[in-house]
Amino acid sequence: MEQNRYADIIETSEIKGQDDAYLKSLRYIKLGYPIMLFGPPGCGKTSIARHILDNMEKDYLEIEATEGMTEYQIVGGFHPLSMSADPETAEKFLYKDGIVARAIQEDKNLLIDEFTRAPSSAYSGIFLLLSHGRLILEHKGTVLKKSDDWIVITTANFGDEGTYRISSALKRRFIPIHVGYPQRYVEEMVLAEKLPNLSSKVIKLILDFAIETRRMWKEENTIPQGISTDGVIKMARYCDLLISEGLDEKTAFSDTAYHQGMVIADETDLLSIQLVNELALNIASRL
Ligand SMILES: Nc1ncnc2c1ncn2[C@@H]1O[C@H](COP(=O)(O)OP(=O)(O)OP(=O)(O)O)[C@@H](O)[C@H]1O
Ligand SMILES: [Mg+2]
Repeated sequence: MEQNRYADIIETSEIKGQDDAYLKSLRYIKLGYPIMLFGPPGCGKTSIARHILDNMEKDYLEIEATEGMTEYQIVGGFHPLSMSADPETAEKFLYKDGIVARAIQEDKNLLIDEFTRAPSSAYSGIFLLLSHGRLILEHKGTVLKKSDDWIVITTANFGDEGTYRISSALKRRFIPIHVGYPQRYVEEMVLAEKLPNLSSKVIKLILDFAIETRRMWKEENTIPQGISTDGVIKMARYCDLLISEGLDEKTAFSDTAYHQGMVIADETDLLSIQLVNELALNIASRL
């Protein structure tokens, strides 16, 4: 029974070839653990999290963490207008609950997207909640208790520029689930389905290019990231457009690869730019 439900969720997902991440997520959620989907950018973390939550009984609240976020947005605190000179305003705006406090009070599940964009200190008020199910609202002098079936999913982009290294104490409170690059045949299938007019030869070159950038990133560390599944789809759509405007396949591919290469290269590092340009040229010459 449960297996059928898992299969339904996986099959109706826009994100293909991430069955393992889906199954692990669904099982840990069933066991009541908070999960953290992590991995390189553009591989479907946010989409997977939303799709799972869309398929749960309860509604959910969602927040995207930012660098400037503090405990105020997460747990809550005194509203700035509580300091108003006008007593009526001051009374009306005494407290503001943060997203976690609201989710628990409204009995809604929760998605914190881009979790590691905010410093760990923003989350210091939810440790007890994550491990023992209670949220202390200091500003109100009350304690909230989460329901047994409360679901919290976070997504994180470890190592991406502009993200914080979250403390290991915080990390430990989530079950980490890796969402990596899908298998090549999955991306091939996704592209063929999305762009029925694009030749299989061009699709093959786009994937050759993307997979090599991932290798350069992971094994050689010569570029700061590889091309994501999202990037591969963008490349294919752009290529398709150029070809429909009358460009030949070779020019369309090299234009696209140059451009996506620049997107992933470190623009302050000439070597990194040169390497992706050479790669684009090299692969285009196969057409
Ligand atoms: N495996 C996949 N199958 C089909 N489409 C995919 C896949 N992976 C990514 N995509 C496409 O990439 C888009 C972006 O995915 P999403 O925003 O969920 O990724 P993300 O990992 O959250 O990215 P970021 O790290 O930038 O937040 C999706 O809407 C989808 O179109
Ligand atoms: Mg995302």
